[in-house]
Amino acid sequence: MTNDDLTKIVDTSDEWIVQRTGIRQRHIAAEGEVTSDLALIAARRALENAGMEASDIDLIVVGTTTPDRTFPATAAILQQKLGITHGSAFDVQAVCSGFVFGVATADSYLKTGMAKRALIIGAEVFSRILDWTDRATCVLFGDGAGAMILEAREVPDDAPEEGVLVSSLRTDGSHWEKLYVDGGVAATGSIGHVRMEGREVFKHAVGMISDVVEDVLQKTGKTTGDLDWFVPHQANKRIIDGAGRKLGIPETKTVVTVDRHANTSAASVPLALWVASEEGRIKKGDLVMIEAMGGGFTWGASLIRW
Ligand code: COA
Repeated sequence: MTNDDLTKIVDTSDEWIVQRTGIRQRHIAAEGEVTSDLALIAARRALENAGMEASDIDLIVVGTTTPDRTFPATAAILQQKLGITHGSAFDVQAVCSGFVFGVATADSYLKTGMAKRALIIGAEVFSRILDWTDRATCVLFGDGAGAMILEAREVPDDAPEEGVLVSSLRTDGSHWEKLYVDGGVAATGSIGHVRMEGREVFKHAVGMISDVVEDVLQKTGKTTGDLDWFVPHQANKRIIDGAGRKLGIPETKTVVTVDRHANTSAASVPLALWVASEEGRIKKGDLVMIEAMGGGFTWGASLIRW
């Protein structure tokens, strides 16, 4: 769905959307297509890239805010679609930070021996919770899914660093009314629609993102100069630029896909990782910083040796 397509639905323009957000188009799931359908496509591609079968996976973590159903977890439905019954599968609800929270959670499972091979997915059909009469929100979001596989390996102490090095996660619930859905199981018995104080979100985003990125760098003794790639949450080009400027990360090292996907919430970081690795930009051995910020507010970052 292009910005011009949106002008037929709400009073907006391609110029306004591009100038304020950098978004040019977004993808919308087909009628009847659910989150686990998108997650399944991403999961199969990740398994193929890793040379693995679904039976190799013993942990599935799905970051989503738009689950197929109130329960069971979308991860459980995905597990069935993948044709496996072993291991564990659950969803992580941290809105746009869902994938980063999922990576940190799965990494902890692997490092403590709770699982061997984890499939982490960010998948959303955000179009289903948008108020398509509210131009301030409906132009910003899109649907999508992306997946990553992490495997635990025994390595000698002096082995070169590999995989997820450190993650930093934060939540400050005092901000939840700035970005939320006005429905829910217990509150209204309905699904509801996204409500947002855009300026307030914008105001906090750059500082929160920089906070966790700097925390992760400090814990690993690295600097922004050591990074090969910065893969931020794709909400808004101006937020990405602001964070890059504050952190001193050049645009040439920053992956931007918000123009083609819009904000796909938990799917945005894995989609950006996929685009950059498919295009041959992110390569084995690269140092990659991922970060996200979203409703809650939640925010987090992970440093990964690819
Ligand atoms: N098309 C055209 N005009 C629009 C519009 C649209 N889609 N949406 C809002 N406007 C109008 C407003 O009505 C307002 O008009 P007015 O001045 O006549 O009242 C004007 O544009 C400015 O609105 P405002 O909300 O102040 O714009 P802004 O510069 O703050 O930009 C956002 C709005 C949403 C792009 C910006 O606040 C933002 O990106 N916030 C962060 C949102 C985000 O990323 N959320 C997800 C985080 S995970």
